[in-house]
Amino acid sequence: MPVIIAPSILSADFGNLNRDCQMINESEAEWFHVDIMDGVFVPNISFGFPVIKAIKKAAQKPLDVHLMIVDPDRYITHFAEAGANILSVHIEACNHLHRTIHEIKRQGMKAGVAINPHTGISLLHDIIADIDLVCMMSVNPGFGGQKFIENTYHKIADLKELIISKNSQALIEIDGGVATGNALKLVQQGADVLVAGNTVFSAPDPKAMVSELKKITSSDIISA
Ligand code: DX5
Ligand code: ZN
Repeated sequence: MPVIIAPSILSADFGNLNRDCQMINESEAEWFHVDIMDGVFVPNISFGFPVIKAIKKAAQKPLDVHLMIVDPDRYITHFAEAGANILSVHIEACNHLHRTIHEIKRQGMKAGVAINPHTGISLLHDIIADIDLVCMMSVNPGFGGQKFIENTYHKIADLKELIISKNSQALIEIDGGVATGNALKLVQQGADVLVAGNTVFSAPDPKAMVSELKKITSSDIISA
């Protein structure tokens, strides 16, 4: 399967949000990655429902919503109503992850689990068969434009093994510091989805950068 590219709206120009959403619509990207930060789970605050609804109105592709918030159960219904297609919660923020995942699905969304760089893959053993996506953080969550953490590579390979052994359908999404220099290696390790914020939006031609990421990662398929 060709890799899915999900540009992160966090790095968009919020004064020109509609323009940047149209760029994603017209690009080869498959998803919109939408980062929600509450200033408690992570040391930053991003944006809330009015902005998500504006993105939803402009977007012609699925919204992949990444919650970096404490107690996400309180807001599942709100995110469903705001138009989230995929909703990921952090394993570190959930006391009853199984219940949370099944509530997300019951509300008609795909369910994802996000894990911080220090969180081991072994914690996913008993939930991997129930989820649609693992959002593996390759930076400490909270900000765009950070440096990729190299330890991520072996975690991807370990997670791929777990997914296969459990007969899970979960996609592996890599979030943070994805760039032209590491995209192919990430896919070779087993990544299915690449989030890219700074790499796409700071490029002189963001749409061309999405195409470049696509091209770089499809060379893996050719050589496979
Ligand atoms: C970080 C966010 C990421 C971020 C990625 O907390 O979850 O999605 O926007 O940005 P880049 O690609 O710039 O590292
Ligand atoms: Zn994210």
